[in-house]
Order: sequence, then structure tokens, then C-alpha cells
Amino acid sequence: MLLHAFPLTPDMWRPQLERVPDGWRFIAPDLRTFGTRGSSAPSMTDYAGGVSALLDALELDRAIIGGLSMGGYITFELFRRAPERFTGILLADTRAQADTPENGQARRKLSELVRTKGPAAVADQMLPKLLSETTLRRRGHVVAQVRQLIESSDVAEIDAAIHALMTRPDSTPDLARISLPTLVLVGEEDSITPISDAELLQQQIPRSQLVILPGAAHLSNLEAPDEFSTALTNFLGSNL
Ligand code: MLT
Repeated sequence: MLLHAFPLTPDMWRPQLERVPDGWRFIAPDLRTFGTRGSSAPSMTDYAGGVSALLDALELDRAIIGGLSMGGYITFELFRRAPERFTGILLADTRAQADTPENGQARRKLSELVRTKGPAAVADQMLPKLLSETTLRRRGHVVAQVRQLIESSDVAEIDAAIHALMTRPDSTPDLARISLPTLVLVGEEDSITPISDAELLQQQIPRSQLVILPGAAHLSNLEAPDEFSTALTNFLGSNL
């Protein structure tokens, strides 16, 4: 189960969905409606609840569950609620810590930006942070794809996710309890959730391994798709 990043859509997993190893099934849900379904103060619990309901609907008792960035935050929330549903974990370009006050301030500004100027302005602001120098200079198709993914969300979906991001709890105390095989991936140039955050995950999760992906920043599965998929395939083949 692959959970997508903010402010993207499940289409960000296209490179991995096109390379599903033999004998496996990948599921990439659209998380956006989970945040806009009712709660006036959306939280990671709403997103984790949506994923859990989807597992029920698909009659899957257990799965390898993970995600990239916000997808990782949702994974932590789901692990707190239902650790028995996991057989393994993927944590890509994510972190266990809650937001700092500075992050909170930046989130409030982003919320204001999306409500006044719309998703295109969010794309303008976020693209240089999400992608590496190499991607921005040389992989025009990835830049265009990420812009299109951001612009395909509506204001309410983006704003709901911002609220959930800024109110998420610290997951650091849960890490030592994760006794499952865990793959930690991070783009070498990720400045949103840098290598130090991935190292913390690897140090605190007992059965984890860390793979650093060169030439990629925060959206490592899109920026280094082959290396990301190879690491995932090796993980699935060796541990589970
Ligand atoms: C994401 O990629 O999901 C977000 O950048 C996460 C965050 O801003 O903390």
C-alpha cells in the first residue's frame, strides 16, 4: 500500500506501478477525500482511518504499508492504531518528528496562499523545494508532471492536508516499537526531510535499512524512479 505525498495524488506512484515485481500487488489510494469528508479540523487520524477502511473494503487483513513524506506520517498514525495490519513498512523522504513552530508558521502562510491564489501558486512555491537541482535543470518532464499533479487538487483538499500536517503528533516515541522489516529511503538532496531525519528513523527502528538515492531531493520516487523501484524490489524480495 503506497501512500502519496502532499500536495500530490496517487499518480505520483506511476513509475512504481509500472514496475510491480512478480507475485506482488501495489495499491495506491487517493488520500485527498479522506481529509475533506466531514471533519472541520482534519487530522492524520482521518487519513489513517480512510486507509484502514480501504484495507477492510479490499478484505486485506495485513499488508506492507508505507508512503512518501505525508504518506509516511499517515503510516505512523496507522501503525499506532493497528500495528497488527502491517507485515512491513516503507518510509520514504519522511520524518518522525512533529512540526516545529517555524514549520507551523510556514503552513499557515501556505494555507493563506492556496485560499487566495489557488493550487497553481502552491506549485510555484513548492516546486523548487520538492525537486533537486538536477531535476529542475535536466528533467523537464518530471517538473511538468509534478506541477500538473499539484494543480489537479482543489483548494479544500490542499487546505485540509495542511491542517493535518501542522497538527500531527510526534511519532519518535513509536519508532522503537516497530519490530517489522522497514525500508527507509531518502533523496540525497532532500531539504524538506533531509538525510539526518532518515538516519534517525534507521537508528531507532530495529529492523530497518536505509538507502540514499543520488540526484534526487524530496520526491525521490519520481526523480530517481529506477533506483527507488530497485530498492523496493530488493526489499520485497529479501525480507518478507
Ligand atoms: C510532503 O511531501 O508530503 C510534504 O512536503 C510533507 C511536509 O511538508 O511535511
